[in-house]
Amino acid sequence: MFVDRVLSGMRPTGSLHLGHYHGVLKNWLALQHQYECLFFAADWHALTTHYDTPDVIEQHVWDMVIDWLAAGVDPTRATLFIQSRVPEHAELHLLLSMITPLSWLERIPTYKDQQEKLRDRDLATYGFLGYPLLQSADVLIYRANRIPVGEDQVPHIEFTREIARRFNHIFGREQDFVQKAEAAVKQLGVKKGKLYTELRTRYQERGDTQALASANALLDEQQNLSVGDRERLYGYLEGEGKVILTEPKALLTAASKMPGLDGQKMSKSYDNTIALRDSIESVTKKIRTMPTDPARVRRSDPGEPEKCPVWQFHQVYSTDKTKDWVRQGCTTAGIGCLECKQPVLDAILEEQKPMRERAQIYVEDPALTRNIIAEGCEKARKMASDTLRDVKAAMKLSYS
Ligand code: TRP
Ligand code: SF4
Repeated sequence: MFVDRVLSGMRPTGSLHLGHYHGVLKNWLALQHQYECLFFAADWHALTTHYDTPDVIEQHVWDMVIDWLAAGVDPTRATLFIQSRVPEHAELHLLLSMITPLSWLERIPTYKDQQEKLRDRDLATYGFLGYPLLQSADVLIYRANRIPVGEDQVPHIEFTREIARRFNHIFGREQDFVQKAEAAVKQLGVKKGKLYTELRTRYQERGDTQALASANALLDEQQNLSVGDRERLYGYLEGEGKVILTEPKALLTAASKMPGLDGQKMSKSYDNTIALRDSIESVTKKIRTMPTDPARVRRSDPGEPEKCPVWQFHQVYSTDKTKDWVRQGCTTAGIGCLECKQPVLDAILEEQKPMRERAQIYVEDPALTRNIIAEGCEKARKMASDTLRDVKAAMKLSYS
């Protein structure tokens, strides 16, 4: 079986917070049980915007990796690595840049958006313009086909698909393609070979997309095809070229409901975060002092949960019963705000407890994290160099 491969990168921005946990990491935890997963620290991507503060990046990477492990990312299931330690990404990025139209990069919404948002930085750089292409290289070098992303990153995945298609179109024409593809059909065996040919004909002659889907599924299940033959057969279904780079699909992650302490989106730049591994004292203080409905000046003033950030926390952490208790108590001034915050505080501390415990051994012994990453980088490099070899061969760069 050809298992779906998931890849996701995270920029090292320092300690992760509960927004990352609810928005991204919980999703990773589920994915690692369903797919082959690759998760990496996108340190080059961090440099595209923060090239003037490079000294913090390394610490941010290690803190972030410990946070992943603390959250429950399992290094025996997922491959964890650092982007810059797999230089194959950079080589593929360079090679893809040869065929990337500038206009494709300029029209990606995040390009202008981020320049607007980070106006204090000079982002009129070559590296920043190439941000999405570097991301494409990250994805394509592993032939990853499922990319978990939030709404804002969907254009990057679309762009990646277009780059893969363009690459395959330009470089996927090999000499003797048809002969090689027909030889690969024979590799399927008599019965499946016949089925493949039938489905291919149905698609090519009648545009039967159902047949195309069945043929792709048939190929997905083949265990004894070489990578090259598999790509030929995928490509042969639709035309006369080889599929060298796989078009990925976005796995859309629902936006997190986790707000910051002030009710805005939780983000370091708003200074409203609770870190994954915040101390008990710090969390307690943050919750106790977080703002509530401004109308509740005195304990005897009734409030409206809709106007209170604590209520949003209850949406994430509380049962319906607790929420009824809040609504009732708040609107009648039956409970005080500290009382109302207690179940939220308890739930957060409960959620963080196993994370703090898991993190401890990694904090005490940094060699553990270094080893996990070293192993992950090595595994990633093996996969990456397979793809790069095919890419270079297609681009006539395999000198003898
Ligand atoms: N651009 C992504 C972000 O800002 C991070 C990233 C880099 C990424 N490379 C990737 C995500 C490859 C998915 C796949 O969140
Ligand atoms: Fe907010 Fe709860 Fe206080 Fe109402 S009682 S204002 S919901 S903290």
